Formats: sequence, structure tokens, C-alpha cells
Amino acid sequence: MSDTTWTRHHILSLADFTTPEYDIVLQTAASFQEVLSRRTKKVPTLQGQVVANLFFESSTRTRSSFELAAKRLSADTLNFASATSSMTKGETILDTAKTYLAMGTDIMVIRHREAGVPHAIAQEMDRLGVRVSVLNAGDGQHEHPSQALLDLFTICTLLDPDFPRVELLKDKKIAIVGDILHSRVARSNIWSFTASGAHVHLAAPPTLLPKLFADYSKDKPGKLFLHWELEPALQDADFVMTLRLQKERMTSHLLPSLREYHQMFGLTHSMLQLCKPYVKVLHPGPVNRGVEISSELMDDSEFSLIQAQVTSGVAVRMALLYLIGSGKA
Ligand code: NCD
Repeated sequence: MSDTTWTRHHILSLADFTTPEYDIVLQTAASFQEVLSRRTKKVPTLQGQVVANLFFESSTRTRSSFELAAKRLSADTLNFASATSSMTKGETILDTAKTYLAMGTDIMVIRHREAGVPHAIAQEMDRLGVRVSVLNAGDGQHEHPSQALLDLFTICTLLDPDFPRVELLKDKKIAIVGDILHSRVARSNIWSFTASGAHVHLAAPPTLLPKLFADYSKDKPGKLFLHWELEPALQDADFVMTLRLQKERMTSHLLPSLREYHQMFGLTHSMLQLCKPYVKVLHPGPVNRGVEISSELMDDSEFSLIQAQVTSGVAVRMALLYLIGSGKA
């Protein structure tokens, strides 16, 4: 695996990721995908290291995927869920992190509903001078780097299974549709897709797509376009990513009704006819069936990459844990 130029200690955001870093992640993940296709799916790479999953917010696929990835690399895993932890007794986030540090944790995978928490813990670990890496597994509405990297891997391996690399996305049209305002996945995806040279078209009602998103593509080889209706974003698209309406993060009435939203921005077989004939559909999950995507389209394996995204997640997270963890042994 070509990790000779990998120097990043924490993975907190994709805003400053470079093309060589994306390519290292893609190629390392491809090697682990091959490992996962073998009869013995485990490698000793992180034997003796401790990976702690600190999830202060609920999760199904991200938490399980990180846990499986760590186990496939032979690391010891610790799982924390805030509802059953000492936080209910008033312990602070930093004290919780230090408790896991005292147990010998090498990598902390952190999810929190507030933006910036993984960054604050990483800073504290650096201040203490300990060699603990922090991986952001989703912070508020800020970023979700591992999800965007698995989305990138899913698309690039479809385009070239033997040699996934970012240049495959050059000039591809990718539409991101839905609740962009609340989506950390969309924010991370905008960084990775524009850095890859793709043309990214965002589509949502104005309440869910503020104009400030236009700033994201500055200095990137790809371009970013904003639309407040669905059709122009779908026209000739190669890939379409729909996003969950994050009802739990909506602070006021941003939408008239779910039925009307589905009519205007819901992805269906008939809307897909605007796209390229071989278009593929992605969704980070969890899905509100019949709201952002029709149930029939979600289950149609001719178009839907949703299950492939979940499968890719394990190989990509193995790659991330390997890249930040392999120097620690
Ligand atoms: C997303 C998340 O939590 O940010 N899901 C995920 O991690 N796969 C998206 C969402 O919650 O809608």
C-alpha cells in the first residue's frame, strides 16, 4: 500500500485534503476491499492498539462500520454510548475522552451533535502531548469525512474497480439533492467532489440551501452550482445523491409538508429520466422512504448504490484507521 506520503495524524475535515491524500485513501481502501473478499477477512495490522468509538449522538451504520473495521484490523475496540454512560452523571466530554486515554486508547472515533467537538478533543490530546489520533465520525452540521470518503470510493470503484482514483470524476456531473442545510455529509462531499474536478449541482428548497454554499468551490478544480428546483440539477447527471430530511435538526417550519416536498424534490424513476441513462443514485442513510426517494427506486439495484455504500464503508474505515494508526505500534 502506498502510504509513503501520508502525514495526517487526525482526520477532522476534508476542507484541506489534497489529491494525493484522496488517492491514498482510495487505493488503501481498494486493498482492504480485496482483504474483505477473502475467506479470512482479518489482518494483524493494528494488533494491540485500542480504538474507542465515542458516539455522543445516535448512529447505526457509522458506529457499526467503524467497529467492524477496527476488528478486521485486529484492534481492541471500546464502545461508548452517551445515554448509558457517566455523562448522565454530569461528566464532561473532555473528562470522558481522558478516561478513554487513561485506558490506553490509540484512536478515538468521535460523533457529537455539536460542530467542533472532535476538533476540541484532538487539540486537547495534542496539548497533552499524547499520540492519540481523532477521527471525526460526524460533528453537528459541520463535517462527516469518512462518509464522504466512502461515497467517493463507491463512485470511483464503479468507474474503475481495479484502480479507483479521483481523476475518474473529472467533469462528471454529480447532483446533491435535499436537506443540504443540516447535512454534514453534503458539506464533506462538496469538498471531495469539487477537489476531484467534478461539477457539483446542489438542489433544495431555498430554506434548505442558503446562498453561502456558493463559497465552497473557491480554488477547487471542480465547480459548484446552486439550484432551487430539481430539474436543472438532474439534467444529464452521472450521479445523484439524495439526503435525509433531518427533522431532528429543524428548528422552525422550513417546509410546507412532506408530501409537497416529495413532489418537488423527491427522487423517483420518472425524475431520473432527466439524467444520463446509466445514472446511479446514492444516499448516506438512514432513509425516509417515500420522502427524499421513492421506496421503489431505493430498492432498485439497477440504479441504487445505497447497499454498496454501506459495504464500501468498512474498507474505507479500515483504510483510515490503518493510515492514522499504523505509525503508532
Ligand atoms: C448521516 C449522518 O449521521 O450525518 N448518516 C450517516 O452517518 N450515514 C446522515 C443523516 O443522518 O441523515
